[in-house]
Amino acid sequence: MCGIVGYVGPKPAASLLVEGLKRLEYRGYDSAGLAITSDKGIKIGKSVGRVSVLENLVKTTGGFDGFCGVAHTRWATHGEPSEPNAHPHSGLTKSGHTIALVHNGIIENYIPLRKYLADRGHVFESETDTEVLAKLVAEVYNGDLEKAVQTALREVRGGYAIAVICDNEPHTIVAARKGSPLIVGIADSAYVVASDASAIIAHTTQVITLDDYQVVRLCAGAEDKKGDGGPWAVDFRTTTIDNVSVAREVTELEFDLEQIELGGYEHFMLKEIMEQPEAIRNCLRGRIDHREGRVVLGGLSAITRDLIRAHRFIITAQGTAYHAGLIGEYLLEDLAKVPARCEYASEFRYRNPIIEEGTVAIAVSQSGETADTLAALTEAKERGAIALGVVNSVGSTISRETDAGVYLHVGPEIGVASTKAFVGQVAVLTLISLYLGKRRFLSDEVVKAYLRQLETLPDLVSRVLEQSDHIRKCVEDCIDRDNWLFLGRGYNYPVAIEGALKLKEISYIHAEGMPAAEMKHGPIALIDKGMPVVFVATRGSQYDKVISNIEEVRARGGRTLVVATEGDEDIHKYADAVFTVPDIAEPLQPMLTVIPLQILAYHAAVLRGHDVDKPRNLAKSVTVE
Ligand code: G6P
Repeated sequence: MCGIVGYVGPKPAASLLVEGLKRLEYRGYDSAGLAITSDKGIKIGKSVGRVSVLENLVKTTGGFDGFCGVAHTRWATHGEPSEPNAHPHSGLTKSGHTIALVHNGIIENYIPLRKYLADRGHVFESETDTEVLAKLVAEVYNGDLEKAVQTALREVRGGYAIAVICDNEPHTIVAARKGSPLIVGIADSAYVVASDASAIIAHTTQVITLDDYQVVRLCAGAEDKKGDGGPWAVDFRTTTIDNVSVAREVTELEFDLEQIELGGYEHFMLKEIMEQPEAIRNCLRGRIDHREGRVVLGGLSAITRDLIRAHRFIITAQGTAYHAGLIGEYLLEDLAKVPARCEYASEFRYRNPIIEEGTVAIAVSQSGETADTLAALTEAKERGAIALGVVNSVGSTISRETDAGVYLHVGPEIGVASTKAFVGQVAVLTLISLYLGKRRFLSDEVVKAYLRQLETLPDLVSRVLEQSDHIRKCVEDCIDRDNWLFLGRGYNYPVAIEGALKLKEISYIHAEGMPAAEMKHGPIALIDKGMPVVFVATRGSQYDKVISNIEEVRARGGRTLVVATEGDEDIHKYADAVFTVPDIAEPLQPMLTVIPLQILAYHAAVLRGHDVDKPRNLAKSVTVE
């Protein structure tokens, strides 16, 4: 979703900000803008569409000189994508100075605030909630930007990550957050503030993160703060919005620049699909003790007893993470023999859920910032649940809100369509289930057998990846079809709905996924000659039943694309195309069966000429409800 970058330091800010915005492009946006302060005042540039349009505007218009600025990619919430609605927004102080502000999140009480400010003579140019905040900071500005931001934030309800500049303090950025991520990078003689680590990593790995209701003031410039040749000085301070000083620890970012660059691949999604063997290896590293045949999860050790005694697990997530959570539901009931339910976080939080004693809530999230998932976790926690996180992004808000958790360690995921994070989420949920299973009902031998198979997964995934060209050719045959079905049973039912989601997200083909048996209750009416129906029909307890479903589709002329187990020769009788996965225990199958479906979606999108890494209307991280 929306992205923020700010820079203050010894280098010209505009080009660094544009470069930072480019690194945030993957998050999804529809317009972009930046503001630079210099002794000539604040210069703002905005554009609709790609960051490259803004880059061009900056180059051709000129005047974006200065060493301090803020920039933004916007994903429309209030008001259509347009230049007036794009950030930065500005306000004029009583002393005639300009404030420029970028914002992620939503100001809920913007209507009364807008009226209050309009009555005081502020003229609004956009339909956004953000402009209200820019004008409010200007209204209360009295020569000290930090104080003005604190004062303004005490008046707003809602969520925000903001970065603010003022032409009266041309070497200062003030930033703050509540409910939306914000990180400050501490570089040599400079500060970079951003909503996402990928915009910081080119500058530094030293960062501080802010907690809710905290404000940071970043100054870098000549010591007299006017830029007229005094010695260079940098300083930052963090406070609450009530101006109480708080100490923040400087931490080291976990990933490096290489991980967020394409490295020869055409798209991040393809790169991330192909690096899944390594991602699984990293996820499992140090977590399997061969000798004792047990799972080692340091992040859970403090509360292991509570987890063993738990009566119920609630898994909560959105999007792809929800599909991983559904597999987690099967895993926990099957392997750990504990009741488990996976629910959409957005539904869970508003339906007055009953949380009995001994309930564990697991939030599954790649970014660790999804607004609904965070809210659901908080709701469960307030009602007495133990809060666990299964999160990729280290130090993210969800990971900080939990009592304990297990990181995915699959590396940063840039592709909007989540792939390696899904496999990492399922791997971690498998580890958690075995961790508990061993302490509850599973025999040592059974646990050992699963662990042995888990360790072979990276190599097995590599074998599936080799079929990429074959999958592309099969997709070519039905690329003109606008309606697809994805069907599976048991552990492979969530895989089917994940396969359908992948196809929808990036190829814009309408696809539905469901339990294979459900097809007879309605969707079978859709099947006509040549309609592509993707089945996951691997060897397992429900194999014969899935075969019956395949026959029902073929009898109606549907075109069947089947994910099957290597060596299953019979399957060719039922399938127009076959993608194989190595044989593995049923609970571990989703981590293999999802791979051909990711590849299928990728090729479909490329064949249809879409920008795989920037799918229309989608955001990588949905930080508003
Ligand atoms: C967005 C992304 C999806 C992702 C979902 C949940 O919709 O486009 O790929 O699965 O959010 O994100 P999370 O970061 O919580 O896993």
